[in-house]
Amino acid sequence: MSACLCLLFLFFTIFAEATYPPGGFHHLSSSLRQNKKTSKSKSESPFETRYFPQNLDHFSFRPESYKVFQQKYLINRRFWRKGGPIFVYTGNEGDIDWFASNTGFMSDIAPKFRALLVFIEHRFYGESTPFGKKSHKTAETLGYLNSQQALADYAILIRSLKQNLSSEASPVVVFGGSYGGMLAAWFRLKYPHIAIGALASSAPILHFDNIVPLASFYDAISQDFKDASVNCFKVIKRSWEELDAVSTMKHGLPELSKKFRTCKGLHSIYSARDWLMGAFVYTAMVNYATTANFMAPLPGYPVEQMCKIIDGFPRGSSNLDRAFAAASLYYNYSGSEKCFELEQPTDDHGLDGWGYQACTEMVMPMSCSNQSMFPPYENDYEAFEEQCMSKYGVKPRPHWITTEFGGKRIETVLKRFGSNIIFSNGLQDPWSRGGVLKNISSSIIALVTKKGAHHADLRAATKGDPEWLKEQRRQEVVIIEKWISEYYRDLKEEE
Ligand SMILES: *[C@@H]1O[C@H](CO)[C@@H](O)[C@H](O)[C@H]1NC(C)=O
Ligand SMILES: *[C@@H]1O[C@H](CO)[C@@H](O)[C@H](O)[C@H]1NC(C)=O
Ligand SMILES: *[C@@H]1O[C@H](CO)[C@@H](O)[C@H](O)[C@H]1NC(C)=O
Ligand SMILES: *[C@@H]1O[C@H](CO)[C@@H](O)[C@H](O)[C@H]1NC(C)=O
Repeated sequence: MSACLCLLFLFFTIFAEATYPPGGFHHLSSSLRQNKKTSKSKSESPFETRYFPQNLDHFSFRPESYKVFQQKYLINRRFWRKGGPIFVYTGNEGDIDWFASNTGFMSDIAPKFRALLVFIEHRFYGESTPFGKKSHKTAETLGYLNSQQALADYAILIRSLKQNLSSEASPVVVFGGSYGGMLAAWFRLKYPHIAIGALASSAPILHFDNIVPLASFYDAISQDFKDASVNCFKVIKRSWEELDAVSTMKHGLPELSKKFRTCKGLHSIYSARDWLMGAFVYTAMVNYATTANFMAPLPGYPVEQMCKIIDGFPRGSSNLDRAFAAASLYYNYSGSEKCFELEQPTDDHGLDGWGYQACTEMVMPMSCSNQSMFPPYENDYEAFEEQCMSKYGVKPRPHWITTEFGGKRIETVLKRFGSNIIFSNGLQDPWSRGGVLKNISSSIIALVTKKGAHHADLRAATKGDPEWLKEQRRQEVVIIEKWISEYYRDLKEEE
């Protein structure tokens, strides 16, 4: 059996290997459905929704490039004083409203800066689909989906907005988390005349082209669980064998379906494996210090909570039962799930599109080491390439991102080129292993917290926030203030 679900999944999207039917987004589905139930109603949103007529293709002048699509963006002018700073969130792979409601930090600091808030949706996600429902159908239309087009979209929209507001001199600071964080950092490097600085939170810009070891992602998750409880780590590690054994049993699948309380009978044990893995992966990512509802509603430090469940079983209990109970914390913390949908992909957050990006430019191969708590898996690049060919009719370009944006020897390169970027990371988050974890210069700063999770700093402040998180945010504010005052000083000197 080829093991691990091996992926490429980025922040939210799991992309199962060719050998696994039905290749999917199922983890996602059940968690996000819950998310929808508990999320706030739209009427409470402090943002106004707007649409900007955006050019389809910024990099050629062929007639078809001039096709225009409606790019969605959100704006909040409540705190803004004309001429003041503009804070722009460079949208990532999903509905922009979802990111806006999970990036409360920007709203929290806007009054202090008297800043205008803008959240721009990434092309091909949410409502910003250039070919409507057909956008994701073929390689012909999907060909316009990539990070360089997205950055150019942001540049054009920001210029237009500043012009319309007669605020061309306003300093722009870009913010982003995860893939949005990569975009924020790259935006600062590519468009320094448009953004004076970038806060790139949990941005794994080094997860490309073998810069970091392929096993680092799954090793990091395993370490989180081991830190919570060594027994918990061992139980999860042993559970895969028990799951494999199901395939040799006579009524294995129906029994497994019953055990896992699935809504419909399972067709493959791999669905159960991916579902379990999804729970552990996402919970490690969102191992926030306080109750949160990003991927799913969860208590504070959910990894510890999962391990408490596992450790709470009586001696001799089945490892698979324990793993299932732990995963149920992730999928059913709200207690509202009647059954689990393991094989039915749904996509309530407009995330479809990442699979294509992962098969073209966002190539982040991974493996599972035998030290991890996951089934060992050697990366099989050829199988991945074949899968991309058959699914999208495209061949991945694994060296493109490092060619376009750099990444190798980043410290030496950015020390002499580039400024005003904060790379913030929390080491609980497995994506931090592909992040910039060292200070590069006096203005390219790494803020690293040991107990932080996936872009924890971008979340709205809550009463229960620990001191280290408050301190991280305080440092970010001080640094951004410095960029802005330097900008105004330079502007004065120009006059
Ligand atoms: C600026 O104004 C023009 C003309 O009204 C409009 O087409 C465009 O969408 C506006 N730009 C933004 C970013 O809203
Ligand atoms: C979800 O949790 C509730 C409350 O604990 C429980 O009654 C229900 O059976 C759980 N659903 C599943 C599918 O396990
Ligand atoms: C674990 O992996 C390492 C490196 O790939 C290898 O040398 C070692 O033999 C493996 N150990 C086991 C028990 O498979
Ligand atoms: C980077 O420098 C800042 C001070 O400017 C410091 O607070 C921070 O801890 C440093 N980061 C690392 C990873 O050493």
